[in-house]
Amino acid sequence: DRSEVEATNTPSEAAKKVKIGIYFATWWALNVVFNIYNKKVLNAYPYPWLTSTLSLACGSLMMLISWATGIAEAPKTDPEFWKTLFPVAVAHTIGHVAATVSMSKVAVSFTHIIKSGEPAFSVLVSRFLLGETFPVPVYLSLLPIIGGCALAAVTELNFNMTGFMGAMISNLAFVFRNIFSKKGMKGKSVSGMNYYACLSILSLAILTPFAIAVEGPQMWIAGWQTAVSQIGNQLIWWVAAQSVFYHLYNQVSYMSLDEISPLTFSIGNTMKRISVIVSSIIIFHTPVQPVNALGAAIAILGTFLYSQRVKLVMNVPCVLSSNLMDGI
Ligand code: 3PG
Repeated sequence: DRSEVEATNTPSEAAKKVKIGIYFATWWALNVVFNIYNKKVLNAYPYPWLTSTLSLACGSLMMLISWATGIAEAPKTDPEFWKTLFPVAVAHTIGHVAATVSMSKVAVSFTHIIKSGEPAFSVLVSRFLLGETFPVPVYLSLLPIIGGCALAAVTELNFNMTGFMGAMISNLAFVFRNIFSKKGMKGKSVSGMNYYACLSILSLAILTPFAIAVEGPQMWIAGWQTAVSQIGNQLIWWVAAQSVFYHLYNQVSYMSLDEISPLTFSIGNTMKRISVIVSSIIIFHTPVQPVNALGAAIAILGTFLYSQRVKLVMNVPCVLSSNLMDGI
């Protein structure tokens, strides 16, 4: 049992809390920086299929170098490992590219408001695709999430259907990623850091041909020349920053997932979105109407209520799907 192992391994509860606090703070800070550079790049150079590929390529390269130089120990994997990783990588690729396409069309804050609705997707996928039912209060606790997201969407000044659908597809894909991820990590000796590294490598292999088909080198080169003529060579540094920070924040999030329950992870992920929404609104001067902000606040508060509701339900000895825990 992981919790027993944790209890004997850590010197004290306080030290463990400090460690998790450091993980969370690092994860959110890295994520805020990623989101800012990602949007700066997309504003100047709107090729989300390429930039999402570059993020995965950069992470894969960083990890391959770390393994080759012994900075990190390479994982011992077998064909079975890669086979179970495949569906996770497909879902990760779709979720990643869809979120990036979304952010190329709408404000970063809007994408993240819609992405705060991920718990609702988890329950709906479990109900309608996996045929699992949950206690009525769990469904009721989804209403503020769905209502808040809907209110934020209809009052969004710069609404764009592709941007909206990208964030929705990303939610759906990440629910599947979490379900498959949990199955794939169970009983495996690969650490969170190396698991994410392998995920990046496989996702890169999946995404590259699609990125070439959808956008392609001709568009990339022409777009690059235009962008550089407008903002100069600093564009390359922005691309490098978004790629490096994308890998780092995901790596830290998978490292913390190794230490904490999926529920704590999901609460951390929602709090992460608050810092991204607030900082991106300030940095990009995103126009926000009061009713729009109200929708976002209801959606985010709804996610907290939902987590609390699930926590209560989890204490009841009923058969509750682990998928419900995974997506939140
Ligand atoms: C991506 O590009 O993959 C998204 O920004 C991921 O979003 P999340 O990690 O905040 O869910």
